[in-house]
Amino acid sequence: MAAVPPVPVRSPPLAAADSPMPTTSFHYVGAALRCEGVPLADVARSEGTPVYVYSAAAVERAYTGLDSAFASYPHRLHYALKANSALGILRLLRGLGSAVDANSVGEIGVALRAGFVADDVVFTGVGKRDDEIDRAVRLRVHAINVESAGEVERITRAARAAGMCARVAVRVNPDVDAGSHPYITTGVSGNKFGVPADRVRELCRAIARTEALSLAGLHVHVGSQILRLEPLRRAAETLVRLASELHDDGIQLEHLDLGGGLGIPYEDGMVEIAPADYAAAILPVVAPSGLRLLLEPGRAIVAQAGVLLTRVIDVKSNGAGRRLAVVDAGMTELLRPALYRAYHRIEPVLRRPDAGDRYEIVGPLCETSDTFGEPRSLPPIEVGDVLAIRDVGAYGAVMASNYNRRPMAPEVLVEGERWRTIRRRQTIDDMMGLEE
Ligand code: LLP
Repeated sequence: MAAVPPVPVRSPPLAAADSPMPTTSFHYVGAALRCEGVPLADVARSEGTPVYVYSAAAVERAYTGLDSAFASYPHRLHYALKANSALGILRLLRGLGSAVDANSVGEIGVALRAGFVADDVVFTGVGKRDDEIDRAVRLRVHAINVESAGEVERITRAARAAGMCARVAVRVNPDVDAGSHPYITTGVSGNKFGVPADRVRELCRAIARTEALSLAGLHVHVGSQILRLEPLRRAAETLVRLASELHDDGIQLEHLDLGGGLGIPYEDGMVEIAPADYAAAILPVVAPSGLRLLLEPGRAIVAQAGVLLTRVIDVKSNGAGRRLAVVDAGMTELLRPALYRAYHRIEPVLRRPDAGDRYEIVGPLCETSDTFGEPRSLPPIEVGDVLAIRDVGAYGAVMASNYNRRPMAPEVLVEGERWRTIRRRQTIDDMMGLEE
C-alpha cells in the first residue's frame, strides 16, 4: 500500500437532505410552473423562446450534497465543465469551492475567466493538440490526465521546451462496463479512452524516470449517466490496486481521480445513486491508499437544475393519426433525444385543467430525428403555449449548434424571486460576424 498513512473515514456530516432546502426547484403553484420563486411564463414572455432557465439553488444543492457526502475524506470535486460551462454557472460553483475538469483549451479559458486558477484545473481529453498541451503545461494546471504513451512524449517535449515540470496523471482504461448508453460508455477495452490497465505500471515507471514530468496520480472515467455502483467501485478498485503496485516500485502518487458518471432520474421510476451511497461504496476502497480523492461530476451537479422553455408553433395530426405539437426548440438546442434517443420529461408552463391528449413533441428542423421522443400524455396543447423540457442543465446548451442558421438560445439564472440573463440570445449578426 501507499506510504501515506491511511486517512480515517469520519462519520458523515448531515446530508443535504437534512437541510431545510426544498428538494426540487421546479414546481407548480396553481396552474403555473415556477423555477424557485419565478413563474416560468414570465421568463418566456420577456426573454422569448427557446430559452434555457437554471436554478441556482438546485446547482448549490447538488454540489453541496455530493461534497458533504465525501467530507470525511480528503477530496476535491472537479466539476466537469463539458456538462455546462456558462460563466454564470461556473462563478456559482467556484463560490461553492469547486475545482474543474476541462476538456479543451477553450474550457480552460472559460474556467480562468470565471475566476478559477490553474491549480483548480485538471485537463482531460483523448486528443489534446500540441498547442493545448503547451498552454496547459505553461499555466501549470493541477494535472494533465494523459491518455497514451505518445501523449506522454508530447507533454515531455512541451515541458522541456518551457523549462518546466508538468504534473500528469495516467488515465486508466479498467475494462469496466458502466452499463449506460454505448455512446457514453468509456471504460471498456474496446473504447478509445485511456491506457489499458496492464500497461499502466510500465508507463508510470517511464514517467517517474522523466525529469520534466511529475506523476501526480491515476485517473479513470468509465462513462456517464451511470445508475449502478458496481462499475464505479470496480474502477476505484483498479486504481487502488495499481497505486499499490506503483508503491512497490517506489513510486508515490498524490491522488486518485475517479472521474464523473453519476446518473440522474430522467424518467419516473429511475433511481439515481444517492451521494451518501456513492461515498459509502467508494471511500472504503480508496481510504486504505491514503491518497487524496478527486471526482469529476458533471451531470449530477447541473442536469436537474435546468429546463428548456419552448413555444408551440403548430398543432396537427399526421397521416398515421398521431397528434403532433411542433415547437420552436429542436435538436439545435437540445441534441440528446436525436443523438441518444434520450428521454426528457416535458411539462406545460401553464397547465390547463382539462383532460388532454397524447402528443409527439417535435422540433422545427428538417430531420426526422428532430423529435423529443414517443408521444406524451399532456393537458390540451394550443399554439402559443410554452412547454418546459426538464433536466437539461447538463449537456443541453453546451451541445447546441447553428444548424439551419438557428441562433443559440439565451440562458437565464434564477436566484429566489429574481432572474437574470447570463448569456444573451445569439443574433444573426453575431453569426455573420465570423464571415464578414
Ligand atoms: N470526466 C470525464 C473525463 C468525462 O469524459 C466526463 C464526461 C465527465 C467527467 C463528466 O461525466 P458526468 O458526471 O457528467 O457523467 N453528452 C452526453 C454525456 C457525455 C459525457 C462525456 N464525458 C450526454 O448528453 O449524455
